[in-house]
Amino acid sequence: MARTPIIAGNWKMNKTPDEAVAFVRELTPKLRPHANVERVVAPTFLALASVAAELKDSPVKLAAQDGHWDASGAYTSQVSVSMLRPYVDYIIIGHSECRAYLNETDANVNLKAKAILDSGRKPIIAVGESLAQNEAGETVSFVRSQVSAALVGISPAQMGDVVIAYEPIWAIGTGKSASGELAEGIIKTAVRETVEDLYGGDIAKAMRIQYGGSVKPGNMEEYMAQPNIDGALVGGASLDVEDFAALVEIAARVKGP
Ligand code: PGA
Repeated sequence: MARTPIIAGNWKMNKTPDEAVAFVRELTPKLRPHANVERVVAPTFLALASVAAELKDSPVKLAAQDGHWDASGAYTSQVSVSMLRPYVDYIIIGHSECRAYLNETDANVNLKAKAILDSGRKPIIAVGESLAQNEAGETVSFVRSQVSAALVGISPAQMGDVVIAYEPIWAIGTGKSASGELAEGIIKTAVRETVEDLYGGDIAKAMRIQYGGSVKPGNMEEYMAQPNIDGALVGGASLDVEDFAALVEIAARVKGP
């Protein structure tokens, strides 16, 4: 079953609304309309409305970088999934920076995933081990536990909308990317096989799994050549129009029509 690769630019705390709009205005004409690749950008909350207006009728889709499961309430600093719903197709949850700085737990990730799916939007669920866990040989068991915890209570029918991003923490923003072979091995054994255990082979085969962590045009081909890697969640390189367009082109070329 062919899986459409998805390249998502996680802009983190970068780009004002004006800069974000200028970026997508410059990016859109550089993307070939026929490339069978989903392209997604994730600006800050503040820029979502203006970028959504700019992207109307564009092949580029929009993601938020987080979203609270409750529709409204006393959660200072938060924005709810239902507030984001009119603007975005995707919401990134479980990013290691949110797990580290905002104390996002596996239970929170699960509540968010369910709220996103119930609202008809798609979660990009980020998972990945720390350097210490990696060195202790705990990567597979830890990533498996993150995947299982994120998916509690999600129905088989909803799984078609779930994207998982495997991002080893030691590779994020460090320039130290995992080799394609290593990423493929973890994605296969810790992510796809966990989904297979929980939901069966058909759902596992259809689910899209991204790699993330220092992805750039120079190493993109190595990842896209792996059979279980269906795209990338990209931080640094997604802030550059030429790099982002190049990542999409490489995915389109290597993954084929
Ligand atoms: P990076 O970030 O590409 O800058 O390593 C990836 C991410 O945090 O999603």
